Amino acid sequence: MSTGTALVTGASRGIGRAICRRLSRDGYAILAVARNAAELASLCGEIVSQGGQCRAIVLDIADGKAVASALGELHVDVLVNNAGVATVQPFVDLGADDWNRMIDVNVNALFHVTRAVLPGMLARGAGHVCTVGSISGRSAFVGGSCYAATKAFVTAWAESLLLEVRERGVKVSVIMPGGVATDFGGKPATPADDWKLSAHDVAEAVGFTIGTPPSVLVHRLEVRTLNSPPRR
Ligand SMILES: NC(=O)c1ccc[n+]([C@@H]2O[C@H](COP(=O)([O-])OP(=O)(O)OC[C@H]3O[C@@H](n4cnc5c(N)ncnc54)[C@H](OP(=O)(O)O)[C@@H]3O)[C@@H](O)[C@H]2O)c1
Repeated sequence: MSTGTALVTGASRGIGRAICRRLSRDGYAILAVARNAAELASLCGEIVSQGGQCRAIVLDIADGKAVASALGELHVDVLVNNAGVATVQPFVDLGADDWNRMIDVNVNALFHVTRAVLPGMLARGAGHVCTVGSISGRSAFVGGSCYAATKAFVTAWAESLLLEVRERGVKVSVIMPGGVATDFGGKPATPADDWKLSAHDVAEAVGFTIGTPPSVLVHRLEVRTLNSPPRR
Protein backbone atom coordinates (compact mmCIF):
# COMPACT_ATOMS: atom_id res chain seq x y z
CA MET A 1 0.00 0.00 0.00
CA SER A 2 1.47 3.37 -0.93
CA THR A 3 -0.02 6.62 0.38
CA GLY A 4 2.34 8.70 -1.76
CA THR A 5 5.85 10.04 -1.52
CA ALA A 6 7.28 11.86 1.51
CA LEU A 7 10.53 13.82 1.31
CA VAL A 8 12.17 14.32 4.72
CA THR A 9 15.22 16.56 5.22
CA GLY A 10 17.62 15.81 8.05
CA ALA A 11 16.77 12.12 7.68
CA SER A 12 20.15 10.72 8.69
CA ARG A 13 19.57 10.86 12.46
CA GLY A 14 17.46 12.23 15.29
CA ILE A 15 13.95 13.49 14.66
CA GLY A 16 14.16 13.20 10.86
CA ARG A 17 15.12 9.55 11.00
CA ALA A 18 12.19 8.84 13.33
CA ILE A 19 9.83 10.74 10.99
CA CYS A 20 10.98 8.56 8.07
CA ARG A 21 10.22 5.41 10.09
CA ARG A 22 6.77 6.70 11.07
CA LEU A 23 5.78 7.86 7.57
CA SER A 24 7.02 4.60 6.08
CA ARG A 25 4.77 2.70 8.49
CA ASP A 26 1.94 4.95 7.27
CA GLY A 27 2.59 3.73 3.71
CA TYR A 28 4.68 6.57 2.28
CA ALA A 29 7.61 5.93 -0.05
CA ILE A 30 10.43 7.88 1.61
CA LEU A 31 12.88 10.26 -0.04
CA ALA A 32 15.50 10.63 2.70
CA VAL A 33 17.68 13.76 2.42
CA ALA A 34 20.87 14.56 4.38
CA ARG A 35 24.64 14.77 3.83
CA ASN A 36 25.69 11.55 5.61
CA ALA A 37 25.46 8.85 2.91
CA ALA A 38 26.24 5.94 5.24
CA GLU A 39 23.48 6.87 7.71
CA LEU A 40 20.96 7.33 4.90
CA ALA A 41 21.93 3.94 3.45
CA SER A 42 21.40 2.27 6.82
CA LEU A 43 18.00 3.97 7.23
CA CYS A 44 16.89 2.87 3.75
CA GLY A 45 18.12 -0.67 4.45
CA GLU A 46 16.05 -0.75 7.64
CA ILE A 47 12.91 0.57 5.92
CA VAL A 48 13.22 -1.76 2.92
CA SER A 49 13.79 -4.77 5.21
CA GLN A 50 10.43 -3.95 6.80
CA GLY A 51 8.65 -3.87 3.44
CA GLY A 52 8.80 -0.10 2.85
CA GLN A 53 10.37 2.02 0.14
CA CYS A 54 13.21 4.47 0.74
CA ARG A 55 15.58 6.35 -1.55
CA ALA A 56 18.61 8.17 -0.16
CA ILE A 57 19.35 11.63 -1.54
CA VAL A 58 22.75 12.83 -0.37
CA LEU A 59 22.48 16.60 -0.45
CA ASP A 60 23.60 19.76 1.33
CA ILE A 61 20.31 21.66 1.52
CA ALA A 62 22.18 24.94 2.03
CA ASP A 63 23.36 24.68 -1.59
CA GLY A 64 20.50 26.17 -3.59
CA LYS A 65 21.72 25.04 -7.02
CA ALA A 66 22.32 21.47 -5.85
CA VAL A 67 18.86 21.37 -4.25
CA ALA A 68 17.12 22.61 -7.41
CA SER A 69 18.91 20.06 -9.52
CA ALA A 70 18.39 17.11 -7.11
CA LEU A 71 14.78 17.78 -6.09
CA GLY A 72 13.25 19.93 -8.83
CA GLU A 73 11.84 17.07 -10.92
CA LEU A 74 10.63 14.83 -8.08
CA HIS A 75 6.98 14.02 -7.35
CA VAL A 76 6.58 14.85 -3.66
CA ASP A 77 3.23 14.54 -1.86
CA VAL A 78 4.51 15.42 1.62
CA LEU A 79 7.54 17.58 2.38
CA VAL A 80 8.92 17.54 5.90
CA ASN A 81 11.41 20.38 6.37
CA ASN A 82 13.12 18.95 9.42
CA ALA A 83 16.88 19.57 9.03
CA GLY A 84 18.20 22.19 11.41
CA VAL A 85 21.36 23.24 13.22
CA ALA A 86 22.07 25.19 16.38
CA THR A 87 24.99 26.89 18.05
CA VAL A 88 23.82 28.08 21.44
CA GLN A 89 26.05 30.92 22.52
CA PRO A 90 25.66 34.46 23.82
CA PHE A 91 25.31 36.82 20.88
CA VAL A 92 28.49 38.66 21.75
CA ASP A 93 30.49 35.41 21.44
CA LEU A 94 28.72 34.01 18.38
CA GLY A 95 30.98 33.85 15.33
CA ALA A 96 29.89 34.83 11.83
CA ASP A 97 30.35 31.25 10.56
CA ASP A 98 27.91 29.84 13.13
CA TRP A 99 25.46 32.69 12.52
CA ASN A 100 25.56 32.10 8.76
CA ARG A 101 25.27 28.32 9.09
CA MET A 102 22.07 28.64 11.13
CA ILE A 103 20.61 31.12 8.66
CA ASP A 104 21.64 28.94 5.71
CA VAL A 105 20.21 25.65 7.03
CA ASN A 106 17.28 26.80 9.19
CA VAL A 107 16.07 29.64 6.96
CA ASN A 108 17.52 29.75 3.45
CA ALA A 109 17.17 25.99 2.90
CA LEU A 110 13.40 26.35 3.49
CA PHE A 111 13.41 28.51 0.38
CA HIS A 112 15.57 26.11 -1.67
CA VAL A 113 13.76 22.90 -0.76
CA THR A 114 10.18 24.19 -0.66
CA ARG A 115 10.57 26.12 -3.92
CA ALA A 116 11.82 22.92 -5.56
CA VAL A 117 8.80 20.78 -4.66
CA LEU A 118 5.87 23.17 -4.06
CA PRO A 119 5.13 23.93 -7.75
CA GLY A 120 4.38 20.24 -8.33
CA MET A 121 1.99 20.17 -5.37
CA LEU A 122 0.20 23.28 -6.64
CA ALA A 123 -0.07 21.82 -10.15
CA ARG A 124 -1.63 18.65 -8.72
CA GLY A 125 -3.84 20.57 -6.28
CA ALA A 126 -2.63 18.48 -3.33
CA GLY A 127 0.27 18.29 -0.92
CA HIS A 128 1.50 19.03 2.57
CA VAL A 129 4.48 21.12 3.66
CA CYS A 130 5.28 20.33 7.30
CA THR A 131 8.20 22.13 8.95
CA VAL A 132 9.84 21.36 12.27
CA GLY A 133 10.10 24.64 14.18
CA SER A 134 10.62 24.89 17.92
CA ILE A 135 8.98 26.28 21.02
CA SER A 136 12.06 28.53 21.12
CA GLY A 137 10.56 30.33 18.10
CA ARG A 138 8.18 32.07 20.46
CA SER A 139 10.01 31.73 23.75
CA ALA A 140 13.46 33.30 23.93
CA PHE A 141 16.37 31.77 25.83
CA VAL A 142 19.90 32.87 26.68
CA GLY A 143 22.24 31.85 23.86
CA GLY A 144 19.41 31.61 21.34
CA SER A 145 19.58 35.00 19.65
CA CYS A 146 20.13 33.46 16.21
CA TYR A 147 18.64 29.96 16.65
CA ALA A 148 15.39 31.15 18.27
CA ALA A 149 15.09 33.84 15.62
CA THR A 150 15.39 31.26 12.84
CA LYS A 151 12.56 29.29 14.47
CA ALA A 152 10.43 32.45 14.79
CA PHE A 153 11.04 32.83 11.06
CA VAL A 154 9.59 29.34 10.52
CA THR A 155 6.24 30.19 12.09
CA ALA A 156 5.85 33.52 10.26
CA TRP A 157 6.93 32.01 6.95
CA ALA A 158 4.66 29.00 7.30
CA GLU A 159 1.59 31.05 8.22
CA SER A 160 2.06 33.35 5.23
CA LEU A 161 2.60 30.36 2.96
CA LEU A 162 -0.53 28.72 4.31
CA LEU A 163 -2.63 31.74 3.35
CA GLU A 164 -1.19 31.60 -0.16
CA VAL A 165 -1.73 27.90 -0.89
CA ARG A 166 -4.57 26.59 1.29
CA GLU A 167 -7.21 27.19 -1.37
CA ARG A 168 -5.07 25.36 -3.89
CA GLY A 169 -5.18 22.10 -1.95
CA VAL A 170 -1.83 22.35 -0.17
CA LYS A 171 -1.61 22.12 3.62
CA VAL A 172 1.11 23.91 5.62
CA SER A 173 1.99 22.93 9.19
CA VAL A 174 4.61 23.69 11.83
CA ILE A 175 5.52 21.25 14.60
CA MET A 176 7.08 23.03 17.58
CA PRO A 177 8.81 20.65 19.99
CA GLY A 178 10.35 21.50 23.32
CA GLY A 179 13.66 19.82 24.20
CA VAL A 180 14.26 16.50 22.43
CA ALA A 181 16.90 13.92 23.40
CA THR A 182 18.96 13.85 20.19
CA ASP A 183 22.54 14.78 19.28
CA PHE A 184 21.29 18.23 18.24
CA GLY A 185 23.73 21.12 18.35
CA GLY A 186 26.70 18.73 18.19
CA LYS A 187 26.12 17.53 21.77
CA PRO A 188 25.49 13.76 22.01
CA ALA A 189 22.39 12.91 24.05
CA THR A 190 23.21 11.46 27.49
CA PRO A 191 21.12 9.70 30.16
CA ALA A 192 20.69 13.16 31.72
CA ASP A 193 18.49 13.99 28.71
CA ASP A 194 16.05 11.16 29.41
CA TRP A 195 13.43 13.56 30.77
CA LYS A 196 13.12 15.24 27.36
CA LEU A 197 10.85 14.26 24.50
CA SER A 198 12.17 11.46 22.29
CA ALA A 199 12.61 11.75 18.53
CA HIS A 200 9.84 9.14 18.30
CA ASP A 201 7.46 11.42 20.24
CA VAL A 202 7.99 14.21 17.72
CA ALA A 203 7.65 11.82 14.77
CA GLU A 204 4.29 10.69 16.15
CA ALA A 205 3.13 14.34 16.18
CA VAL A 206 4.27 14.76 12.58
CA GLY A 207 2.51 11.55 11.54
CA PHE A 208 -0.69 12.69 13.25
CA THR A 209 -0.54 16.10 11.57
CA ILE A 210 0.01 14.61 8.13
CA GLY A 211 -2.63 11.94 8.64
CA THR A 212 -5.58 14.26 9.27
CA PRO A 213 -8.52 14.03 6.83
CA PRO A 214 -8.26 16.14 3.63
CA SER A 215 -10.62 18.81 4.99
CA VAL A 216 -8.73 19.20 8.28
CA LEU A 217 -5.51 21.12 8.87
CA VAL A 218 -3.41 21.16 12.01
CA HIS A 219 -1.40 24.26 11.23
CA ARG A 220 0.66 24.66 14.41
CA LEU A 221 1.35 22.05 17.04
CA GLU A 222 3.43 22.42 20.21
CA VAL A 223 4.81 19.21 21.64
CA ARG A 224 5.97 19.23 25.26
CA THR A 225 7.09 16.71 27.82
CA LEU A 226 5.36 16.37 31.17
CA ASN A 227 8.64 15.25 32.75
CA SER A 228 10.70 17.69 34.79
CA PRO A 229 14.42 18.23 34.30
CA PRO A 230 16.52 16.68 37.08
CA ARG A 231 17.41 19.06 39.93
CA ARG A 232 21.01 20.27 39.72
N1 LIG B 1 16.67 18.38 19.61
C1 LIG B 1 15.92 19.37 20.12
O1 LIG B 1 15.95 19.64 21.35
C2 LIG B 1 14.99 20.14 19.22
C3 LIG B 1 13.95 20.89 19.81
C4 LIG B 1 13.08 21.62 19.02
C5 LIG B 1 13.25 21.59 17.63
N2 LIG B 1 14.26 20.88 17.07
C6 LIG B 1 14.39 20.89 15.61
O2 LIG B 1 14.25 19.58 15.12
C7 LIG B 1 14.97 19.44 13.89
C8 LIG B 1 15.80 18.18 13.91
O3 LIG B 1 16.71 18.27 15.00
P1 LIG B 1 17.39 16.97 15.67
O4 LIG B 1 17.26 17.15 17.14
O5 LIG B 1 16.91 15.72 15.04
O6 LIG B 1 18.93 17.28 15.28
P2 LIG B 1 20.12 16.31 14.79
O7 LIG B 1 20.05 15.00 15.45
O8 LIG B 1 21.35 17.15 14.91
O9 LIG B 1 19.78 16.10 13.23
C9 LIG B 1 19.88 17.16 12.33
C10 LIG B 1 19.67 16.64 10.93
O10 LIG B 1 19.81 17.75 10.01
C11 LIG B 1 20.68 17.35 8.95
N3 LIG B 1 21.40 18.49 8.39
C12 LIG B 1 22.09 19.44 9.06
N4 LIG B 1 22.66 20.28 8.19
C13 LIG B 1 22.30 19.86 6.94
C14 LIG B 1 22.59 20.32 5.63
N5 LIG B 1 23.36 21.41 5.40
N6 LIG B 1 22.07 19.63 4.57
C15 LIG B 1 21.31 18.54 4.79
N7 LIG B 1 21.00 18.06 6.00
C16 LIG B 1 21.50 18.71 7.07
C17 LIG B 1 21.63 16.33 9.61
O11 LIG B 1 22.13 15.44 8.63
P3 LIG B 1 23.64 15.40 8.06
O12 LIG B 1 24.55 15.85 9.16
O13 LIG B 1 23.80 13.96 7.66
O14 LIG B 1 23.60 16.32 6.88
C18 LIG B 1 20.69 15.58 10.54
O15 LIG B 1 20.04 14.55 9.85
C19 LIG B 1 15.75 20.74 13.72
O16 LIG B 1 15.07 21.60 12.83
C20 LIG B 1 15.75 21.35 15.12
O17 LIG B 1 15.85 22.76 15.08
C21 LIG B 1 15.14 20.14 17.83
